[in-house]
Amino acid sequence: MSHWLRAGTADLWRLGALFLIAAALAQAPRAAGAAAKRTCAAPRLAQGCNPHPLTLREPARRPLSAVAQLGAKLFYDPSLSGSGRLSCASCHSPARAYGPPAAGPVMLGGPRLHTPGIRAVPSLRYLYRQPPFSIGPDAVGDNDQVIPLSQQALQAAGHVRVLKSASAPQAAAANLVPQGGLFWDGRADTLEQQVNGPLYNPLEMDAGSPGRVIGKLEKASYGKDFARLFGPGVFENPRLAADEAMFAIARYQIENADFHPFTSKFDAWLAGQARLTPAELRGYRLFNDPAKANCAGCHLDRPTRDGLPPLFTDFQYEALGVPRNPAIPANRNPRYYDLGLCGPYRADLGRQTQYCGMFLTPTLRNVATRYAFFHNGVFHSLAQVLDFYGNRDLHPGRFYGHDAAGHVIPYDDLPARYRANVDKVDAPFDRRSGDEPALTRAQMRDVIAFLDTLTDGYRGTGR
Ligand code: HEC
Ligand code: HEC
Repeated sequence: MSHWLRAGTADLWRLGALFLIAAALAQAPRAAGAAAKRTCAAPRLAQGCNPHPLTLREPARRPLSAVAQLGAKLFYDPSLSGSGRLSCASCHSPARAYGPPAAGPVMLGGPRLHTPGIRAVPSLRYLYRQPPFSIGPDAVGDNDQVIPLSQQALQAAGHVRVLKSASAPQAAAANLVPQGGLFWDGRADTLEQQVNGPLYNPLEMDAGSPGRVIGKLEKASYGKDFARLFGPGVFENPRLAADEAMFAIARYQIENADFHPFTSKFDAWLAGQARLTPAELRGYRLFNDPAKANCAGCHLDRPTRDGLPPLFTDFQYEALGVPRNPAIPANRNPRYYDLGLCGPYRADLGRQTQYCGMFLTPTLRNVATRYAFFHNGVFHSLAQVLDFYGNRDLHPGRFYGHDAAGHVIPYDDLPARYRANVDKVDAPFDRRSGDEPALTRAQMRDVIAFLDTLTDGYRGTGR
């Protein structure tokens, strides 16, 4: 297996921990002027107002450091890729919340930009608080002793999983389940470890070896910045220079406020500076209703206890039984399965079959700007996503393929032996054939109206 598949070294991990601390220190309440104007005099939820307006701790907005400025140049530089035509921004478009700019389920990469990827491109926004990958609530907590993942999994095995409920999301946060990490399967812990993935991935930027990358960096217009920042000898050790480049790109994603702007209507509403429409308010209530949509059971929408804005994810993993996507060429091989946590793109949890089919719960911020949904991009509208959440087990024929005898294959993107891993207990997945669906069509539209309030760039009253 080539090195881009492997999560990096302990050193990088420690560096990443430093980053998280630096990012946490940089949190500051939004500038006082912005908090001044409230939309509702006597705020009441029934009128679409936030009954408890808040000033939350957001990352400080400062000018970019010299390293981050270099990172910006690298982020937008297509010359690093094997094709010479693909930069990070080609797949992570700033116009689309750093998600995919095109409608295909996956993006094309490789030497001639003909090679389709295997997973949907996630948004790069709001990753600044992503914890490192671990299993269990404090598995890699404050102490220095890092317990191997296999042992963490063993410790977690005997525990009963807590139901994920919008009314008690904290309980789910204590689950002894896999959490944190970057990528759909959490195989990288930090942004700079992560950059090695797409850069050398033959399906993505296909940059070749660090040596080849360094050759290009040296010749680039910013080659001199590089030597100035990291020392004149930096290009003599290609590995080191490549690591510094990753470091710079990571700094750019951490320092640039455009990666965590918190400018959605929902953020304005949290601050008491916007009023939800009746449809948005109905959607908000359903989103938080543990017996209905229950979305907040996993996509947490409350500020944290220490005043950080909600990121609409609990950082945990779930198997939702997302349908197989025939548009991904790798899926033409009937024996190929993307099992998330247990492979094929991470190799360390393959024997922990209880995790097969689990993928990271993504943020829902800016989700309405996406063209493709879920890890394999199988759905192309939020209406399809909501239909899936509401009717997966009631009308499986709507989502899954059929076998030769014409029978529906439920959870058809998992081998039969792993289908028991699929979540059937948390609402809205707790409905069985013959039950009323968790959501009516009209209610689905309301939830979508609420999801629309999570798009950054809201220019309503007060902001
Ligand atoms: C050809 C398209 C493509 C290019 C180019 C690309 N990426 Fe990605 N990126 C992806 C895909 C697909 C994933 C998800 C892969 C997975 O989960 O296995 C991803 C995942 C990520 C993630 C993890 C996000 C998360 O939510 O966990 C980060 C961070 C990231 N990319 C940054 C970058 C950077 C930095 C560059 C440039 C060095 C880059 N990407 C270039 C397609 C691309
Ligand atoms: C039990 C936990 C859980 C609940 C409850 C839940 N989700 Fe999710 N959600 C996930 C996970 C895990 C994924 C990623 C699954 C995958 O790609 O295989 C996801 C993915 C999504 C996506 C795709 C995002 C993207 O970037 O592709 C949307 C949209 C979404 N959820 C909306 C909702 C809504 C709306 C509700 C309520 C009706 C909801 N979710 C309830 C766990 C949950």
